[in-house]
This record gives sequence, structure tokens and C-alpha cells, in this order.
Amino acid sequence: MSKQTQIRRTTVPQIAARKGGEPIVSLTSYHAHTAAIVDKYADFILVGDSLGMVMHGMESTVGVPLDLMIMHGKAVVRGTQKALVVVDMPFGTYEESPAVAFRNAAKIMKETQCGAVKLEGGKRMAETIRFLTERGIPVMAHIGLTPQSSNVMGGFKTQGRDEDSWELHEEDARAVAEAGAFAIVLEGMVEPLAAKITKQIPIPTIGIGASAECDGQILVLEDMLGLNEWTPKFVKVYGDLGPAIERAVSQYAEEVKDRSFPGEDEVYR
Ligand code: KIV
Repeated sequence: MSKQTQIRRTTVPQIAARKGGEPIVSLTSYHAHTAAIVDKYADFILVGDSLGMVMHGMESTVGVPLDLMIMHGKAVVRGTQKALVVVDMPFGTYEESPAVAFRNAAKIMKETQCGAVKLEGGKRMAETIRFLTERGIPVMAHIGLTPQSSNVMGGFKTQGRDEDSWELHEEDARAVAEAGAFAIVLEGMVEPLAAKITKQIPIPTIGIGASAECDGQILVLEDMLGLNEWTPKFVKVYGDLGPAIERAVSQYAEEVKDRSFPGEDEVYR
């Protein structure tokens, strides 16, 4: 039996069918070990380009290269059995034309064996989303606060504070749904707008800093684990991994320095 037939992963149609149903649980993950834990609870795992900032110390996601996404995507697929794995298309790999987007999305899917890709943008990306989905590449869309456009947006700002702007966001959501996206991330968006979009469109909305009324939620794993010194205001922190790691490292350092570090007899029994 091939590995493919043994592993039963959540599929894209299964996620799409959750519209208005049981809320979709998702988290980001960038490595095999954290992905294996998240896999037990998440319907899909996003290998987000936030890894540029979270793991590689970049100031934004703009500098993330395609190869880095592929490397982390492979690790997450290897570490998981159950969840759908979605890999972010990084800035500069899909905006130029549908054909360029197809080439890079196909490379991501072939090399990582992930089940779908995600890209940022609403109406302006609709033609590309249609081109990809018609050619066998499932696409998750991402609107609202789109970090890859932070240079144009002037930073990471909550969208929809001015009600006059709502129609543009609603048009974006409708456009990507009509183009064939199977789900859509609503990031950094005022609650009533995210709730309104969720009611309007036929595909699941996945909120991050948006609304509890979305069809599902996603958080950056390291943020909710308390690993990052700074986290966005909307993130509920469920763990204290940063301080826990620091406690462990400082205890180890003390034991090495005062020679109380356990010897072979004590540890390797
Ligand atoms: O890159 C990422 O982690 C994301 C999520 C925040 C949705 O796009």
C-alpha cells in the first residue's frame, strides 16, 4: 500500500463544506515537530509566510523567498497525517500574471505535496484564482489586512474602521469566492464587517483578528504559545513557552557553570 492510501487527510471539499457548520480550527506551523502536535486538533495547517518574521527575524513578509516556503512546507507535510496543509505563496511569486502564479503554485504543490496554496488579494487576484483552480490548484484567498502589501497600506492596520470602505472589502470577498477560492482568510478587520462578509459569501471565512462569527479561526502558533515577545492585541495567549524556555535554558546554564550538570551515570542509565 502506498503512503498516499494510508494517510487520510482532510480535503479541500471537506473544508469548503464546513460553511456555516462546525467551526474550522486552524493554526500556522513551520516545522515537523510542532505540526505533529497541531495535526491532532487542526482541520488545516497553514505554512504561513509569517515564518519570515517569526522564525527568520525579518521585518516583514516581503523578503520571504519561494524556496524557504517550500522547505518549511515539506517539513510540515512530513510531520502530519490528518490536517490539510496549505502553503502561502510569498510576495512576488504570483502577482505578475496567472501563468507565473501557476508555475510557482505548481512548484510548491509538487515539491511539498501540500493540498492547497494561499495568496493575498481580493478583486485584483480573481483572474489568477480562477486560472489556478481551473488547472487543479486549490486556492485559499486572504483579504483585509494583507501583510505583503504593508508597504502600500502604511503598516499593519485594522481594515474597515471607516464604514465607507466596507463595500470594497465586500467586493473583494465576493470576487475571490466567485473565482473559485475554497475558503478565505479575513485578517485584521473590524468585527461587524467580517461578520457581514461571512453571511454574504458561500465559502468559509477564516478569521484572524476579525470576528468570532467567522466560519473558522487561525492564529500564528508562536503567538498563541507565548513564544514571541510582542503579539498583536487580538491574540489570546494560551501558553507561556517563552518564559518556560528561558527558565530551562537558564537552569541548564547555571548547572553547567557550577558543575552540577548531571554526569553520565545519572542521566544515561
Ligand atoms: O502568514 C501567515 O501566518 C498568515 C496568517 C496570519 C493567516 O497568513
